[in-house]
Amino acid sequence: MKYVIGIDLGTSAVKAILINQSGELIAEASYSYPLIQKRAGYSEQDPAEWVRQTIKAIADIMAKFKGNPSDIEGISYSGQMHGLVLLDKDFQLLRPAILWNDTRTSSQCKSIIKEFGTEILAISKNSVVEGFTLPKLLWVKEHEPDIFKQSAVFLLPKDYIRYWMTGKIHTDYSDAAGTLLLDIVNKEWNAEILNKFNIPETLCPPLLESHELVGTVKPEVANLLGFAAQTKVFAGGADNACGAIGAGILSPDTTLCSIGTSGVILSYESNKETEYQGRLHFFNHGKEDAFYSMGVTLAAGQSLTWFKNTFAENETFNQLIEGIDEIPVGSDGLIFTPYLFGERTPYPDAIIRGSFIGMNGAHHRSHFVRAVMEGVTFSLNESISLFRQKGKRVDTIISVGGGAKNDSWLQMQADIFNARIVKLKNEQGPSLGAAMLAAYGVGWFPSLNECAKKFIIYTKDFHPQKDQVEQYQSLFEVYQMVYSHTKEINEKLIQFRS
Ligand code: XUL
Repeated sequence: MKYVIGIDLGTSAVKAILINQSGELIAEASYSYPLIQKRAGYSEQDPAEWVRQTIKAIADIMAKFKGNPSDIEGISYSGQMHGLVLLDKDFQLLRPAILWNDTRTSSQCKSIIKEFGTEILAISKNSVVEGFTLPKLLWVKEHEPDIFKQSAVFLLPKDYIRYWMTGKIHTDYSDAAGTLLLDIVNKEWNAEILNKFNIPETLCPPLLESHELVGTVKPEVANLLGFAAQTKVFAGGADNACGAIGAGILSPDTTLCSIGTSGVILSYESNKETEYQGRLHFFNHGKEDAFYSMGVTLAAGQSLTWFKNTFAENETFNQLIEGIDEIPVGSDGLIFTPYLFGERTPYPDAIIRGSFIGMNGAHHRSHFVRAVMEGVTFSLNESISLFRQKGKRVDTIISVGGGAKNDSWLQMQADIFNARIVKLKNEQGPSLGAAMLAAYGVGWFPSLNECAKKFIIYTKDFHPQKDQVEQYQSLFEVYQMVYSHTKEINEKLIQFRS
């Protein structure tokens, strides 16, 4: 039997899995790392810590593996998108990575939009938001000019782990697509954008397809991790691309709902000419020459985590959620908007903050919990509405992440999205997509689609219930009013934020 490893470098933890040729999970391990939040809006991590925790995760799966290391044929990666890792000419780290959920770059975004916003949208197919890599590069250039001067190349987060394992500097198209520097359609770094912002092209790493072979693991790393020296390393992809691969989103009209820290609604696109005018992200897929469009709710699972940590610190999520089925649809008139850290889709707005609207003296904690779950789901429904407005068919959605762990939340998704919701049997998330890229890369399958047929098993499904769908449709209209009615209030509140 042969094996591959998939590594997902997430925002809160790294997860490593070992899969055999039949797609069976042989071992898994996960190690977390903290966010460094020096100021409000800042979100950084230490790439050296990513490496330390990845070593531990791999050590764990190797300890559980009873076979011959030379039967582990390949390894590939998935990673949190957009994060800026800066290396000097000797490929040494210059500063902590600035992550996708860091919102310090509003003023850089404003000047990019003013000077070049339309052009960037036409080339990169994405509008300018704080989380993307270009505004972060410009922030470093402006605020840390010495570091910018010493920078020889930038990487996206998972590329740093691959660099550590192979000594090779690359990124792949699906991750490069989130930088605002890539010509998405022609799959090359765009000279016009680079010139406009005086960014030397040498700062951009060479580009690869996600399933492409990078090389083999360095001998000292193979030694440390217990790998055979010939273990092949494949490029890997952005976590959303890998999450989509691992959920079988590999053909037209397939849609994914992922509720993790952030929430994502993602749909496969085979036509590179599709235009959402920047209202949704449009990225290269981890599957060659395919694309996906995507809307993001910044604080999805994180809204519930925030609520739990703030009001029910010593309880489990199951205890917190218990009782929400007794609360009627619409939480008895209580609406939550999940803008704890600003929002992306459909309102790219770093200033907006969340609200509970409609509180009354009869509401108790379960109303608030249900309202948080409904608010997150409404926010994701904004992206589904944008797809439907474009004529896209969204009748079946594969649901993954923390939001797929609870049947009540899955039923809520069916009722709010008005679509059939399907759950995966053995959900492994983006790490499975990474392992599938390695499985396809080493030649076990003629295509990712063939690999998906073997590796991905769908299980339970949830159907929309007519009455609930109707109630939620009316409530969604009220939910959509909250943004415009609280925008100005939040702009006034900025002066009171620390
Ligand atoms: C996507 C995004 C997030 C991160 C989370 O644009 O910012 O989904 O990829 O890892």
